Amino acid sequence: MSRTLFVTSALPYANGPIHLGHMVEHVQSDTWVRYQRMAGNRVIYCCADDAHGSGIMLKAEAEGVSPEQLIARFKNEHLRDFVDFGVAYDNYHSTHSDENRELSALIYTRLRDAGLIESRDVEQAYDAKRGMFLPDRFIKGSCPVCKTPGQYGDNCEACGATYRPTDLIDPVSVVSGEPPVQKSSEHFFFRLPAMESYLRDFLKSGVVQDSVAPKLAEWFKAGLKDWDISRDAPYFGFEIPDAPGKYFYVWVDAPVGYMASLKHLAARDADVDFDAIWSKDSDAEVYHFIGKDIIYFHALFWPAMLEASGFRSPTGVFAHGMITLNGEKMSKSRGTFITARTWLDHLPAEPLRYFYASRITGSIEDMDLGLQDFMQIVNADLVGKYVNIASRTANFITKRFDGELGSEVDQALLSQVAGAADEIASAFDARNFAKATRLTMAAADAVNAYIAEQQPWVIAKDAERGADLHRVCTTALTAFRDLTTYLKPVVPKMAADVEAFLNLAPLQWSDIGRPLAGQRINKFKPLMTRIEDKQVTAMQDAAKQMAEAAKAPAAPATKDDDVIAIDDFMKVDLRVARVAEAAPVDGADKLIQLTLDVGELGTRNVFAGIKSAYAPEDLVGKLVVLVANLAPRKMRFGVSEGMVIAAGDGQGIFVVSPDAGATPGSRVK
Ligand code: 2FM
Ligand code: ZN
Repeated sequence: MSRTLFVTSALPYANGPIHLGHMVEHVQSDTWVRYQRMAGNRVIYCCADDAHGSGIMLKAEAEGVSPEQLIARFKNEHLRDFVDFGVAYDNYHSTHSDENRELSALIYTRLRDAGLIESRDVEQAYDAKRGMFLPDRFIKGSCPVCKTPGQYGDNCEACGATYRPTDLIDPVSVVSGEPPVQKSSEHFFFRLPAMESYLRDFLKSGVVQDSVAPKLAEWFKAGLKDWDISRDAPYFGFEIPDAPGKYFYVWVDAPVGYMASLKHLAARDADVDFDAIWSKDSDAEVYHFIGKDIIYFHALFWPAMLEASGFRSPTGVFAHGMITLNGEKMSKSRGTFITARTWLDHLPAEPLRYFYASRITGSIEDMDLGLQDFMQIVNADLVGKYVNIASRTANFITKRFDGELGSEVDQALLSQVAGAADEIASAFDARNFAKATRLTMAAADAVNAYIAEQQPWVIAKDAERGADLHRVCTTALTAFRDLTTYLKPVVPKMAADVEAFLNLAPLQWSDIGRPLAGQRINKFKPLMTRIEDKQVTAMQDAAKQMAEAAKAPAAPATKDDDVIAIDDFMKVDLRVARVAEAAPVDGADKLIQLTLDVGELGTRNVFAGIKSAYAPEDLVGKLVVLVANLAPRKMRFGVSEGMVIAAGDGQGIFVVSPDAGATPGSRVK
């Protein structure tokens, strides 16, 4: 009977780009999902953006957009990056969704009704100027150990010490620059220790890798702690039921986002049954791919929340290690932080998928993306070993046999190639893709040795040996079909190109070893070209340039005295307006009198000093930006009710104009 698997990757935060570290995980889960489907299992594969928390709230504020706008932008970017890396989620949702709001509230109320929520007062750093409690990452000061300035409230990047924000020397709020004060407020806690015996049993079921067990043992030994699940307003998230002004901590509704994404999918796909997957008696399997830094959340909090609220727990939590680039931690300031998009701007995705696969063993060891290794492995394996098989044999079939494969084959070689199928399948299943690719390349080596020995290019010169040529090339291409099947979870696009070339339906695991006698194939087109040094260098240069651009001051030489706080800026009411009428002003050769349609604010009369650059008739219908809350100014010609924004550099005047589609009256932020 085929199994049903629900598979997820950790939800990326909606306030930054997807980088190559994220991609290790998403490519890993995608590869596994593709393998499971090829093996005949039913897989539902979901992810979402993790859209809540102070970080997102403050970033939106700094950009002058709403959190909703910020998370919508990142979600689109993230999804595009995943799609372009061949990561094919059945659904990519957001934790800021109706489904997630409902499910989070449901889980919470069940925990509360089961007596597992407690409240008590907590004293915390507070930014009195901004009126908000400060997470540790939003407090900076000098390290209490090595005295390095500019360190965050939880640990020192210079000496590695960990401490509490109250230990920092001269701490300030990152938000306002003011020293934080201590303030007390009521928080809600999930009583994790009450779930200890459940968790101990649950973790014996093989849900986590063996290598994770010591970490868990350490946590149990130290004693499980109540988990603070609430945050005070202002916070971007879901308000806790019956607790106005209190919000779920982002990590509460984040994993619920896995369920919410499935629920959202179920609403449009009748074959997806939410309850059949999440009910306690479900016989489906649930797998979470995560980084090893978030094991605590997925192996303790999450199963405890699920169990206590009447849902089933995960079947497997698969943790992986972190990635380094050329042996070093990816760093924004050093220009070694590579986003998925920077990669795609210079290099194709599938070679990186292959490189990752060649390093992923299913363990929690860290992995290095050495760019020289990347080039060497990809060029040697994919181009030199794999594609080479088809490029050395396909043309003979096309030119000499009218594109038709023969019925004679060298079975010994084909049996050897197909004989690796079970071991490769087990390796994929165990997420040991390094082993799967190694075995595949060993099989490719055997095929290349066969071709080198048979020398089809020599046979082709002998008119008497047509049958031999047909047999050798048919054998090689049949083996090539099997190698493609082995590689398909890793390089699905290339496999699709091979399916088109060999005229085959999408390859399944069960196709391995099937004869291809009489199969008509298409003309061979190169499947992949070598990765060149210059592509890699260009990609690295682009990453460095991005780092430099990020370091450069945003605006040239703004004096400290000129700096205004965001609150000051927010006081300016900027609105989209449409020029309804524009007329010259008698006796004022610089002015144009504008009648502006400002939507909900009605019409405004504004005198604008733009006549040197614009003819009044050219302005009618144009969208402009109006400072709508400027005090009315009495002029010789009448009252000006606001100001139209324009850029002026001494050379000309340029009225700032929103793109077509902006609605008059809407706010400009
Ligand atoms: O660590 C992170 O990047 C989190 N956004 C992962 C959340 S995974 C899940 F729990 F939602
Ligand atoms: Zn230090």
